[in-house]
This record gives sequence, C-alpha cells and structure tokens, in this order.
Amino acid sequence: MENNEQILSEIESLREQLNYHNHKYYVENSPEIKDFEFDTLMRRLMDLEAEYPQYADPLSPTVRVGSDRTSEFNSVQHRYPMLSLSNTYSIEELTAFIERIEREWGATEYVCELKFDGTAISLTYEKGRLERAVTRGDGTMGDDVTTNVKTIRSIPLVLSGSGYPDLFEIRGEIFMPYNSFDRLNAEREVAGEQLFANPRNAAAGTLKQQQSAVVAHRGLDCTLYQMAGDNLPFKNHIENLEAARSWGFKVSEYMTLCRGAAEVIAYINHWDEARKSLPYPTDGVVIKVNDFNLRSKLGFTAKSPRWAVAYKFKAESALTTLLSVDFQVGRTGAITPVANLEPVLLAGTTVKRATLHNAEQISALDIRIGDKVYVEKGGEIIPKITEVELSERTADSRPFEYIDHCPECGAELVRYEGEAKHYCPNQSGCRPQIIGRIIHFIRRKAMDIDGLGNETVELLFENGLIGNIADIYTLRANDLAVLPRLGEKSADNIISSIERSKSVPFARVLFGLGIRFVGETTAKYLAAHFKSIDAVMAADKVSLMESDEVGEKIADAIIDYFADPANIEIIERLKEAGLQFEAEQSVRHSDTLEGKNIVISGKFINHSREELKAMIEAHGGKNQSGVNANTDFIVAGENMGPAKLQKAEKLGVKILSESEFIELIGGAVVVEQAPTTQAPTASEQVIQTTLF
Ligand code: IVH
Repeated sequence: MENNEQILSEIESLREQLNYHNHKYYVENSPEIKDFEFDTLMRRLMDLEAEYPQYADPLSPTVRVGSDRTSEFNSVQHRYPMLSLSNTYSIEELTAFIERIEREWGATEYVCELKFDGTAISLTYEKGRLERAVTRGDGTMGDDVTTNVKTIRSIPLVLSGSGYPDLFEIRGEIFMPYNSFDRLNAEREVAGEQLFANPRNAAAGTLKQQQSAVVAHRGLDCTLYQMAGDNLPFKNHIENLEAARSWGFKVSEYMTLCRGAAEVIAYINHWDEARKSLPYPTDGVVIKVNDFNLRSKLGFTAKSPRWAVAYKFKAESALTTLLSVDFQVGRTGAITPVANLEPVLLAGTTVKRATLHNAEQISALDIRIGDKVYVEKGGEIIPKITEVELSERTADSRPFEYIDHCPECGAELVRYEGEAKHYCPNQSGCRPQIIGRIIHFIRRKAMDIDGLGNETVELLFENGLIGNIADIYTLRANDLAVLPRLGEKSADNIISSIERSKSVPFARVLFGLGIRFVGETTAKYLAAHFKSIDAVMAADKVSLMESDEVGEKIADAIIDYFADPANIEIIERLKEAGLQFEAEQSVRHSDTLEGKNIVISGKFINHSREELKAMIEAHGGKNQSGVNANTDFIVAGENMGPAKLQKAEKLGVKILSESEFIELIGGAVVVEQAPTTQAPTASEQVIQTTLF
C-alpha cells in the first residue's frame, strides 16, 4: 500500500510533466510525446485527484477539461484600466506619429506586433500562479472569467522559470484560430444553431459560455502582448515580454523591434501580405514605443495611450459582376436584399453572394444588375459590396428597381418610420415569417425544444402539422413518426422536450414570442417589471416605457404585437397548454430596507452580486449603481473599487461586509434574480498609476 507521501509526490510529478508537455504542445508547437501518452498521464492524475481530494489544486492541469457546472461572471474592477488603441489606416499618419515622437523625444525604438483579432483579456498572477482572468468590459470593470480561461491550454496556470514579480498583470488577446472556427460553425450548422459571423465573435461568445467544459472544447488560443505591474523586471516592453515568454507565456514570435519609420513600414508591408497565410485572424499591426520612461512622459488620452497606435489593414477586396439580387424575408418580415455574384476568389474563399442591407444602400451605391462591383470581406462570413466600378458600366444599364411586393407571399411591402428596411406585413400568411417565428420560439435561449431542427420545422409545416407556435403543443408522437427521416425514438424525444418546455420561465417565453426588438434582455426586464403576460398586454405605451430597456420603438412594437387578434389567440392557446405566463413570485420578505439606497461593490464569497441585489429588493431596498449623497450604505466585498471607497469615506457612507448585510436582513434567502446590473458611472473610473 502506497503511503500518502508517495501519492503526493506522484501527483506533483504528474502535474509537472503535464504542464511541461502542455507548454511544448500549445505554446511551442513542438510536442515531445504522443497524444496517447499525454492522455494516459492526464487520466492517471485525474484518478489520483478523485481518490485523494485532499491534494486538490485549483490550478492542476486537470482543470483544463473544464466542468459542466454553470458559472456566472462577477463584475470586477481592473487594477489598471484597460484602454483601447487609436487607429489609423494611413501610412502618412503613422509616419507623422513616429516622426513627431522622434523629433520631440529623440526616440527611435518601436516594437511592432500583429494586431490579433479576438477579445482582450487581463490575467493576474500572484506568486507565479494564475489568480484571475478578467475581460475588458467597459475598460474599468470587466467580467471575471477565470474558470473558462483556465481551460485555454496555451495559458500557463503555474509559471516556470524565475524572475517574475510577486504580483503582476499580463494582457493579451484570446482568439479562435481558423480551424477551430470552421469546426465550430460546421458543428453548429448540423445542430441547426446560428453560426458565428467571424472568429472574433466566436472567441468573445465562447469566453462568456457558462460551462467551462464547452469552452475547453472550442479550441481557443491566447497570445500575450502587454504587461502591467509595479515591479516589472525591465524598463522596456520587449525585454519584459521576452521574460514573459521564458515564464511560459505565448508571446508572438513575430514581435519585432524596429528602429525608425522605415523599418516600421517595412514590417507593415510584409505582414499586409504574409498575414493571409497565418492560421488565425489579424486585422493590423500595433506599433508601441519600447521605452517605459518615454511611455510615462507621453501619457494617455482619455481612451488610449499616446505611446502606441494601431495600423489597420484595409479589408481585402475583389472585383466581380453582379448577376442578380434575391430578397430574403426574415421572421419579423424584414426584407434583406442579397447579391448573387459571378464567383470570385477573395481571402482564400470563393465568394458568390454578398449582403446589400437595404434599399437605401442599393441606391446610395447606385448598384445595377450587370455592374462590375468591389466586394470586401472584413472578417465577416458574408462579404459586402462597397463600390461600383463605374468605368465598366455598359450603356444599356438601368437603375435598380427595388421590389414593392413580398417575393414570398405577394403582400405589399411597408416601411416603418426610422427603419431602413422594408417589411412584409403579412405576418400570419407569409411562409418564411411563420417558419422563422417557430424556429425562434424553439431555440435554446427561448423554449429550448430539442430535436426540432430547422428542417423538421419546415417538414412539419409542409405537412400541415404546425402553422404557428401554439400548434407545437398539439403535436402527438404519431404525427411526428410519419415524417421521413424521423424515427419513433426521435419523435418521443421531441414530445418529451415539448413537455419540458412548459416549465420554461416566463421571461424566456416572452422572448420566444418573437415580438420585434424584444431580445433576451428586454424580455427579462419586462418579465421582472410586469410579472405577467396579462400585465404586459394591459400596459399602455407610457407604462411599458417604465420598464428598463424599453424605449418608444420597443413600446410601439409591443403594442402592435398585442393589437393583432391572431397573436392574442396564440397566447390563449399557449396558456391553455400550460406555459409559464407569470414570473415566479418574488416574495417581499420584509420591509427592513424600506426607503434605503444601497450600493453593491466588489466580489463576494457566499453570494453573487445578482443574488445580493435581489435580496435588497426583497427586503424593500433600492439598488444604486454609484455612490452619491443619497446612498445609505455600501455592501462591500473583496476588491471594492478604490474610487468608490474614497467617495464613500468622503460622504461618510457606511460600509457593510457581506456577512453584516446578511445579518441585517435576518439571514440569506433565495430570491428570484433581477436582470443584470447597470454600467458603472464615470466617477468609478480609477486613476492610472503605473507605466502600463
Ligand atoms: S496593446 C493600451 N497589442 O486591440 C492598449 N492590443 O484596439 C493595449 N489587440 O483592446 C493594447 N493585438 O484587444 C495591443 N499586439 C497587440 C494587440 C492588441 C490585438 C487588441 C486589444 C485592444 C485592441 C485595441
């Protein structure tokens, strides 16, 4: 029988080996062992950790596989604000930027880096261990996505080498390489899920996934390009980043020290072409002053440092012929014109179609059938037409006439005030609208009815089995089993998924109805404010606008929706079927906090910020986003923003800890959660203190 000391040393050795091979594979791209050997070591470690939970480590390489638990993201304040970069598309402007710095400060050293096209992340390491990973957010506050970030294998959980400060932040870009992106979208297509428009959206969306196991599977990568901290080992950028590389971080191998404008421009010219064969998306070059001393002299504008600039590549374009224009009808009746093009090669793919957005765009560009047009691909899947080559226009070309009737059902199109698009108003008789609404209703974020993909919905519609969302609840397994390609088992699964959807909370049902402009968040606010569909239906425009997020446009759309008797009938039938049309009671527990204005700040140990906010309301209090003279007290967790603290002290506002607050309300209660919080106010911005 092995004793515990032996077990612990085996666990430690496995962790070390796995970290080493992980780095070889994901950072250096030079694996030393086969996948199978790696997996065997990983399995052994997982088994040992399961058997000896006393040796658990939140930074063990086993966390890379992620978990199925859902996590929510606490909003935390950045120690140093995350700024953005000023952009230029012009070599002249860039040259002027460099020459001015040279003239005024005599500096010649610039570090040129690729501008990775993903989503920014800030990683905090304490004593060589990853403590926290936070998204940019609004630059002052970001989301704590540590659990998800731990699954990204190129990010070291524990640093190697030596010489790193006890506490520092390192920032970089989380991005999705093209092969991961293609695989993800292919999977989503099969599942009938909406595709990501580009790798940037896919990376940002993935990082906000609630289950880290999903993140682990998506193949994200991360490159680091900026350090922040009080005790960085060097007084310039490039040496710090080289040091970071030696601690295990993935730092771009293409980061280059350039002297003077000519070398910078040569770097840009090289990468404008060479980037096309990189396996990940980039959209420019970032040029940074190397010397930290000079950086601090140059300082910052409100939004960006004066010591760096991003040169953005122009989107790639190609010239081809416009053959015809199709008109697509969306679920809300919105008409989108789509150009059919003579196939042309653009950024590695053959382009046959391009979006034209709306009638105004067509007439602004004066696009005509038969024209030679420029198509561009700016990181989106669907390219767009940017310009007509007028010199190649033939004498017999005629201005394009936009349609005035729906191409699907023939109804006369309408324009709503302030809307660029045309709409088909025939909601209940126009096929793509009916099908689109049903598909929207069953989607994951709404009723989450599994097994009913786009194709099945179309089949059911063609066979006269469903004509609107209420018909879904009249379906029987027998009806489904007769459909081609659908066996008895799948039919049963669909029926039980339909049954389950009857307990989906009211906010998601409201979102599922597909009222124009009522997205997921607005539906949450409406449900929290009105509590029932009857109250939403009875509300006039003014009272609708009392709900957060609801402006005039949304209020009008809601009123229009409920003015249609066909919609009322559908809602009545859905009610009869047993769907949730009332918010779960958010019980008023007491009046302890009646009339009190309360601010929640920082990160809490036992409750999420949303839970605390819901508790405040349940006890009659009011949540405030920023501290002011009316604030009665602050419930403060870890890392409360220094600016808030200062302000609270100045105004003499009382500060309670999480436990003091819970005590005040007589113990924690589980209450229904309000939708997410408001953005922080400008007064919460922290002052820049270091060289970053
Ligand atoms: S430096 C103070 N370097 O571009 C600015 N940013 O438009 C620190 N980005 O938010 C950023 N590659 O998400 C820097 N090599 C690079 C970059 C880079 C991509 C992103 C980053 C930033 C955005 C600014």
